[in-house]
Amino acid sequence: MNEYTSHKAWAIASHNAGKIKEIRELIEPYGLVANGADELNLPEPEETENTFIGNAELKAVAGAKGSGRVALADDSGLEVFALDGDPGIYSARWSGEPRDFYAAMDKVRTELEARGATDYSARFVCALALAHPDGPTRVYEGEVRGHLTFPPRGNKGFGYDPIFIPEGRDITFGEMDPAQKHAMSHRAHAFRLLVDDIFKS
Ligand code: IMP
Repeated sequence: MNEYTSHKAWAIASHNAGKIKEIRELIEPYGLVANGADELNLPEPEETENTFIGNAELKAVAGAKGSGRVALADDSGLEVFALDGDPGIYSARWSGEPRDFYAAMDKVRTELEARGATDYSARFVCALALAHPDGPTRVYEGEVRGHLTFPPRGNKGFGYDPIFIPEGRDITFGEMDPAQKHAMSHRAHAFRLLVDDIFKS
């Protein structure tokens, strides 16, 4: 037990239902319960940093201050190599307001075609930040590499899942059962680092 695991009710500093569901499924096996930012009435801070890590930290610290709980935040996104890493930290913003990820996926396809790109390789990146209400913040980063396919396939995931095929597979994250995605995703890789640091120390 340490300063993080002695708190049994965590906050997930996110308003994204897809992320909250995945993070909850990852932490529940460790005997923790977690509530999302909406349930805890936490405001959504502006993402003013220019890295995944910076934005994850900013959200976790705001979540811990606002809730008085240990708060876990995720900042993640899709980097497309032929688009110089876009949409990257702007992955959510590419979907507009209200969020429409089919429009965002179409924008990715249009940009690739406009550049005449033939290399559709991409990666998902996830930074997880764990903030203590009166202690330090720890950050972990994971990635999963793969390539994009169009048109989008499958409706099991969220965000850009329907166009992303991870390395070594021939189905998209959108077509995969959650357990399969959890075993290989960028979020799972970051989470494994968190587990090794927090639950095994
Ligand atoms: P933010 O971290 O809330 O700024 O938004 C990250 C955005 O990246 C999400 O809204 C999704 O569009 C995208 N994203 C992050 N992780 C995933 C994933 O596992 N699957 C699909 N899209 C993702």
